Amino acid sequence: MQKLPSCVLALGFAILIGAAVVGWIIVPKVINNKIAEQVRLVNGSETFNRWRDVPVPIFVKFHLFNVTNPKQVLIGEKAILQEVGPFTFRQKRQKVDIKIHKRNDTISYRQTLTYFYQPELSTGSLQDVITVINIPFLGMVHRAAKQSAFSRSMMLEFLADEQVFVQKTIDEMLFKGYYVDFMEDFAKFIGYKLLPNDTFGLYYGKNGSDQGVFEVYSGIKDTSKFGVIASWNGSPEMPWWEPDSCKKISGTDGAIFPPFVTTDRKLNMFSSDLCRSLRLIYEKESEVGGVPSYKFIVDPEVLEDPVFNRDNMCYCTQPGSRFENCPKQGAYQINACRKETPLLVSLPHFLDGSSEYLNKTEGLHPDRSLHETFIELEPTSGLLLKAAKRIQVNMELRPFKFIKQFKKVPSMLFPLVWVDESAMMSEDGRGRLKAKLIAPQTYSNYGAWGGVALDDVKTTTLLCVRPDRSAADISRWQPDGVDPQLVGHLVSSVGLTLRAINMFLETLVILFISSLLATFFGLVIYARWNYGTLEALNIPFVKPSFFLGSAPDLHEKIQHLEDIARYKKYGSVYGVYEGRSPTIYVCDPELIRLIFVKDFDHFQDRRQIDLGDPLVNDFLDFLPVDKWREIRGSMSPIFTTGKLKMMSTSFKTVNEEFFKQLTQIVDSKGRDGAYSMDMRQLFDGLVMDMICRSAFGIKIGDPLDPDNLFVRLFKDLQGTDADFGLMYTLSMVFPWLTRFAPTLGSDSATRIVAIIRGVMEARKESGNKHNDFIDVLNEMYDKLSSPEYKKLKIAETAVMAQAINFVLAGYDAMCTTMTFLLYNISKHPEIQEKLIQEIDNFMENHDGEIIFEKLSECPYLLACLTETLRLYPPFIRPERMCTKDWKNNGLKITKGTLVMTPAWSVNRNPQVYSDPDNFQPDRFMPENKLKLNSYAFLTFGLGPRNCVGMRYAYEAMKFCMVHFLKHFRVELSPETEIKYKPGILFLIMYDPVNLTLVKRR
Ligand code: HEM
Repeated sequence: MQKLPSCVLALGFAILIGAAVVGWIIVPKVINNKIAEQVRLVNGSETFNRWRDVPVPIFVKFHLFNVTNPKQVLIGEKAILQEVGPFTFRQKRQKVDIKIHKRNDTISYRQTLTYFYQPELSTGSLQDVITVINIPFLGMVHRAAKQSAFSRSMMLEFLADEQVFVQKTIDEMLFKGYYVDFMEDFAKFIGYKLLPNDTFGLYYGKNGSDQGVFEVYSGIKDTSKFGVIASWNGSPEMPWWEPDSCKKISGTDGAIFPPFVTTDRKLNMFSSDLCRSLRLIYEKESEVGGVPSYKFIVDPEVLEDPVFNRDNMCYCTQPGSRFENCPKQGAYQINACRKETPLLVSLPHFLDGSSEYLNKTEGLHPDRSLHETFIELEPTSGLLLKAAKRIQVNMELRPFKFIKQFKKVPSMLFPLVWVDESAMMSEDGRGRLKAKLIAPQTYSNYGAWGGVALDDVKTTTLLCVRPDRSAADISRWQPDGVDPQLVGHLVSSVGLTLRAINMFLETLVILFISSLLATFFGLVIYARWNYGTLEALNIPFVKPSFFLGSAPDLHEKIQHLEDIARYKKYGSVYGVYEGRSPTIYVCDPELIRLIFVKDFDHFQDRRQIDLGDPLVNDFLDFLPVDKWREIRGSMSPIFTTGKLKMMSTSFKTVNEEFFKQLTQIVDSKGRDGAYSMDMRQLFDGLVMDMICRSAFGIKIGDPLDPDNLFVRLFKDLQGTDADFGLMYTLSMVFPWLTRFAPTLGSDSATRIVAIIRGVMEARKESGNKHNDFIDVLNEMYDKLSSPEYKKLKIAETAVMAQAINFVLAGYDAMCTTMTFLLYNISKHPEIQEKLIQEIDNFMENHDGEIIFEKLSECPYLLACLTETLRLYPPFIRPERMCTKDWKNNGLKITKGTLVMTPAWSVNRNPQVYSDPDNFQPDRFMPENKLKLNSYAFLTFGLGPRNCVGMRYAYEAMKFCMVHFLKHFRVELSPETEIKYKPGILFLIMYDPVNLTLVKRR
């Protein structure tokens, strides 16, 4: 290769750097300075004028709800709602009483909002009459409920003739309002008015009114504060929320935002209508009429159930002793700022809200495209391109025993109105933005990339000076002192040194390739380092590949089926290179007995790997023996018969509620009492609810809601199918890669930990004991400063890890087992009938009550469960790490070697089980099971380190199955199919298993 003169090389390099510096640093900086100059409220500037009289058309669309079955609602039935509208108004915003406070860098003003009806953009007329709930009446009844019996009876006198539902025109419901008879008399009685002019309308008195005095930062001294509200009505806080975290007014009014928006920025906007600031988070990059934008949506955490998200607890004004009065997911109370009227705000049609709200009405259809709140900003300037604030106002309806009109009404959130306030930058505005900002940014990027695009600088140069676009666009933009064509000139000069740069690059490439080769050979040597170890043991082994161990295609194969195939091929003891680690697979029951039980002191650990997350590393499963012994000792007492009996009260309640609701679903959605469902999904919510209620005292909301927050959090935590892939195979060879192979979704983990920690603290404060897992966790927590814990380095993560482990260890396994049990009995109707018969007899003998200590009277149920667990062990390979060299009958296992026991092969051993692949529960009936070898059943592991939750799992599953078969039979549906997922190493995973539920008569 020709040697490159060093001056040419240096020049080429300098030009390269120069182009990049101009394109990526100088030009953007000039643009940013220009923006910073413009984005401030200087009296008389264009920005100021546009801020004072907002020129962007804002349309406010009101949608109301007509109640079509008022009489039925009075006797407790679901409200059937018909949405009417939109009734569209153009909103004019004007700022008045403007005062500039130079010293604070702020401006104060009042903003008047005037509404002009737009019939051509509306559906229906303002004179249309609808049936609505009597808001003033219901408000008054809520008020009466809080009074003493005497004051209440006085108040009720005024309400004797009121009706729960009234008929009003749209106009009356919105701006015009209507006269409320009883309010006048009541005002005389109490000496002041509750409603202006004793008139009620959702927006009565608001047309032309202002929302108080705002003081905002002008952005002159600090651009990052542009438009941020410094105070409202003289205070930086809202007076109605108590704890500090909710009081603070944060963000802008939602019409302007500081520039230089980044994707990690959280945008806050304060709305006096909503009585709070809302937080928005970045969702995605988008585009509005050709202008690139960042789309922000309401942070889902903002509307989370306060029970699960303690940050929202301060919006729950009267939580009650167990937070039963707090709103559920998707709604929050605004009574504190609405003169104690029991109003709640949600997204329209309860989008993203708890299904408890949605299920109590008919006629609502949440649709993200119509009902979500979002804003789209041009990121550099922070200008609003498009926005929609969509909010529904609801009123709390519930039965009140003290007043006849409300005695039988249902408990629900009654939707009153939803309002869509949308705006979009005009085409003209977008055109100016494109010319002044987007085009120069693009050219500066072209310039920079042109500098580093070594092979075809000419093409890049042409791009920069393309006459059809650049000349026109660039000439429109005239920022002070910068000529954008400079970028193009700089780039063309790069062409002169093309050859020099090419040669420089060649040198770099050679260096790069040599280091790549060296790294590759180093990695291969590392990967093959232990090859030869299994060969020396004199046992059959699966031949290793060049450097990915015995299973280079691990991620493509269904692992438990692979185990069965290997057992048939290699026998009951064989070796496998798990990546670079020699591993011994043992299927022989006698060897299993020695390893798991008799010689446990040689095999006390599982493999010790850094899973990249301190929480997972601290799961009981992975703890080294000394820590394990201490923590297992603390956990075990929760699974005694006495404690399980106490927990069974939760099993019973959860199941009763669940199957009542499921029956209603089958009735409403099914045909002739039959409905096909994915069993796994069905059990997701039920099992989660049982675990959370019995172990943590947490009710997870609606377990049949496919979007249930708790189920979602734990699913996110476990990762998705896509997570199990090549990275797993590679991490077998290079264990340090497990840090990148997903173990836990860390966001979900943090949130779950926060929820459980909150429950632990609340329990501690209450001083009560529930004898559940929360008490155990609190006891462990108290020991954190004890000498034993300090010595063993047991810290807070270890305590919280056990809480997550409790759910993760049992949740999937129980759902899977019950899914497969139902699948099997639907394939064997005679077994199903025998089981149903046993359950019916049990119910008859115990007056329909399911009693914990009597469940032993269902041996066939236990046999069916055990046979399912034998055939489909959810955990594929219980394992032990050899901690001391061990020898038996010529088999030598050295310290540090991993021993795997493939449960699917062990549990289907033909020498122990006749017809091992077939579902035959009778083999586990009391009269037969003693003939079996208990070391050929590995579903819960064996020995001192077996599954600590085994008894819990059996009892919980028995409760579910008795309830299930009391209500339904199961049949195979045409689409029933079992399809396992490949590459999964811990749990079996499979596609949906659809079965038809048939209601029992
Ligand atoms: C059908 C349900 C379940 C199955 C099939 C199952 C299976 C297993 C298996 C195979 C092991 C490894 C045992 C060994 O290595 O010898 C294990 C360990 C464990 N299981 Fe379960 N399990 C189930 C339910 C549960 C439940 C409900 C909980 C919690 C309440 C739980 C908590 C644990 C824990 C904490 C460990 C680690 C034990 C230790 O290392 O000391 N499991 N389970």
